[in-house]
Amino acid sequence: MAAEARPGRLAGRAALVTGASRGIGRAIALRYAEEGADLFLTATSAAKLEETKALAARHGGKVVTHPADVSERAAVVAMVEAALKTLGRIDVLVNNAGVYKAARLVDTTPEDFDRMMKVNLYGAFNVMQLALRHMQARKSGKVVNIASTAGKWMSMNQSAYNASKHALVGLTRCAALEMGPFGVNVNAICPGFVETEMLEEFRAHGEILGVPFEEVKEAGLARVPLRRFLKPEEIAQLAVYLGSGESDGMTGQSILIDGGMLMV
Ligand SMILES: NC(=O)c1ccc[n+]([C@@H]2O[C@H](COP(=O)([O-])OP(=O)(O)OC[C@H]3O[C@@H](n4cnc5c(N)ncnc54)[C@H](OP(=O)(O)O)[C@@H]3O)[C@@H](O)[C@H]2O)c1
Repeated sequence: MAAEARPGRLAGRAALVTGASRGIGRAIALRYAEEGADLFLTATSAAKLEETKALAARHGGKVVTHPADVSERAAVVAMVEAALKTLGRIDVLVNNAGVYKAARLVDTTPEDFDRMMKVNLYGAFNVMQLALRHMQARKSGKVVNIASTAGKWMSMNQSAYNASKHALVGLTRCAALEMGPFGVNVNAICPGFVETEMLEEFRAHGEILGVPFEEVKEAGLARVPLRRFLKPEEIAQLAVYLGSGESDGMTGQSILIDGGMLMV
């Protein structure tokens, strides 16, 4: 295994990370590289993916990029085959690719509903199913699905997004149940507000409510006991734990990391 010589909490592990071109996915890729993992990175923007690759490669280890749309089944079949061919195995899958668009339920277009379901849910299903077949045969593996607090509770003006993330939490639990006997762990991370490009999409909430974006952000922060938005790197820390042997005893969990916004 190429990564064996490098130390780290993920030393010797091969990880496939979706949505690695920016934001949380890029932060996870970089922390994984730092912790000794070899990487197979995907997203649709090839140029941004190459930027992530260049940053990750500084830590040594193998980094392979493969632009693909996770909502397209045929593209995912080819992508997982390429990952197995280039890295030899998938020890960790991080299903992070996601899209968000705010709208009141009565104004949500079927096209927007479809898009969020296709990327956030079907995309995760596509990659997860193929990776799990491989992990089941090897009797080892870790899946980390990036869901959201939106997968745990209600939110105004984002019913399509919440529906997709609730479904992802359900998929995580069922997969964990089936995969447990094979020694494969399946967990989800449920971030609250994280400072990425996706947070900019919250502007639409202001437009719907007729209030400035700054007020929307202040109202959001008022619900967070820590009174700040999280950094993508903070989500990556939890993803390292879930991708490593440190979390071998944990499966089927959907872990909130949201500055205390939701306490259950
Ligand atoms: N930011 C937050 O506050 C927050 C909170 C809770 C959960 N999340 C979740 O965290 C994950 C990452 O979000 P982020 O905040 O980092 O958002 P982001 O900056 O918008 O990044 C989204 C990533 O997903 C990729 N992606 C989108 N559609 C794709 C597709 N069809 N196929 C492959 N890749 C695709 C994007 O790459 P390309 O554009 O290059 O395809 C990008 O790398 C998402 O699942 C999101 O729902 C975010």
